[in-house]
Amino acid sequence: MAQTHTYDALVIGAGGAGLMAATYLQDHPDVKTAVLSKLYPTRSHTGAAQGGIGAALGNMGEDNPDWHSFDTVKGSDYLGDQDAIEIMCGDAPEVVYELEHMGLPFSRTEDGRIAQRRFGGHTKNYGEEPVRRSCYAADRTGHMILQTLYQQSIRKGVEFHDEFHVLDLIVEDGSCRGVVALELETGELHQFRSKATLLATGGHGQVWSTTSNAVTLTGDGLTLAARNGIPLQDLEFYQFHPTGIYDMGILITEGVRGEGGILRNNEGERFMEQYAPNLKDLASRDVVSRAIYKEIRAGRGIDGKHHVHLDATHLGQDVIENKLPEIADFCRTYLGLDPVTTPMPVEPTAHYGMGGIPTDVDGRVEVDEQGNTMRGLYAAGECACVSVHGANRLGTNALLELVVFGRRAGNAMAEYCAEAELEPAGEAPMEQAREAVETLRTRDSGERPADIRREMQELMMENVSVFRTQELLQEAKEKLVDLRERAKSIAIDDRRKTFNTDLTEAWETVGMVELAQVITECALNRTESRGAHSREDYPDRNDDEWLKHTLAFRDDGEVELRYRPVTITKFEPKERTY
Ligand code: FUM
Repeated sequence: MAQTHTYDALVIGAGGAGLMAATYLQDHPDVKTAVLSKLYPTRSHTGAAQGGIGAALGNMGEDNPDWHSFDTVKGSDYLGDQDAIEIMCGDAPEVVYELEHMGLPFSRTEDGRIAQRRFGGHTKNYGEEPVRRSCYAADRTGHMILQTLYQQSIRKGVEFHDEFHVLDLIVEDGSCRGVVALELETGELHQFRSKATLLATGGHGQVWSTTSNAVTLTGDGLTLAARNGIPLQDLEFYQFHPTGIYDMGILITEGVRGEGGILRNNEGERFMEQYAPNLKDLASRDVVSRAIYKEIRAGRGIDGKHHVHLDATHLGQDVIENKLPEIADFCRTYLGLDPVTTPMPVEPTAHYGMGGIPTDVDGRVEVDEQGNTMRGLYAAGECACVSVHGANRLGTNALLELVVFGRRAGNAMAEYCAEAELEPAGEAPMEQAREAVETLRTRDSGERPADIRREMQELMMENVSVFRTQELLQEAKEKLVDLRERAKSIAIDDRRKTFNTDLTEAWETVGMVELAQVITECALNRTESRGAHSREDYPDRNDDEWLKHTLAFRDDGEVELRYRPVTITKFEPKERTY
């Protein structure tokens, strides 16, 4: 039996952005709010973020928000929208203190202030030298943010629907009127009606085979948006974090390099000195990931394998146990090595999507290149593109984006709900979802979703990762058409309704193949190199033609590309050196 629930505000996703929005919405007693999450909230991927949240507190050396803005703009390879970046960097100190006052257990300086460490691309005085800007809780900063925000949500009485997988948005006459969701425990479909809905569904790292992202990071929010005619912005820009554990992808925080860790090749050479003479190992992530690939291609990977070493052996036991305990634990558990005495084998790992659902600075979802918005629909966090990261994100700016723009979206939704009426919602999305789920659940024969997923992930890793060419991208495009066709008739083994993860993984796989098509199309189209999008056949940045955002509209397999301008306030595009 279908169940219908009615709220003023719905938040989809219980990571940092969703919970921050929910805690703000909950301050408005007239706005009945609920959070839907396909996971138990504290399993959200914000909890995996390690090294810190950026804010120019100046606790450990001079700093100011304008330097933070400059670094973010430069890090973005000038594709970030500077109005949004100014808001994020300007609000950063306030939100970090807000988290502290909520109870977040930050690491401390000797005199009791929030401790700060260096991170890639963050500098003093517009690029002069590294600055300590990352506020951290050892190397469990995201975990602490998630726990703190969840506790605050519970304290304030936010209503949660855990383990509800959203299958579709209810969009009628240009407004979003809620969602259709599958209750994982029962396999029943529910209709959630709302005046305002926030997509805060996180990233899509599972599109690639080597990733720091949990298995649940399947880009659901992006697929929901694209299937409802909403464009996706700048999907060609996907970040590979330089230091994933070799062959596993698990994140080894940039905080290791922030504390003084060094990348070395098979000759023991500190190779980043050649690629980024000023910031060396703390250059921005796109630069470091490319340098690692180049070292490996030149035969300087360790033992001829696809990795280099991250050497923290000179940092000493105290620093590792106290400031980097999580990664020490990972190395001991997964690699059987102790980073106190042995360098860590690392390679770039798919980590973060700079692109996503286009929004204004208050989270309202934009539906075209003119910036027109969809009534009742908001997005924040990694699934959104506001765009503060442009072509490449600086470490620590993801956690910051979550709380700054989660808070703004929550406030904007509360204001909207106070004025708006609940609009009628028809049954069509519910009926379509029911038919699609039943077809998938009961199909007799077909390919296994795991095979399609693995093929797509390996293809994306080979052809659409750190370095790209026309040839590789064209090949990926053609193979993805075939994968999408095959995905139409996948079949699963488990026919039950209760906790049918076979079913939900199949659903996610189809969505990811569609997303991979958009990513590849955008990457094929952008004939320049900028930030994380590195085209070997077009090695230079080309501001004359490409200083613009891509908007991709996906309609039944066809991708239409349009463009919108980048907002530049005070930092004119310059050549980027580190
Ligand atoms: O390296 C890290 O700790 C990751 C941080 C980030 O992606 O911001």
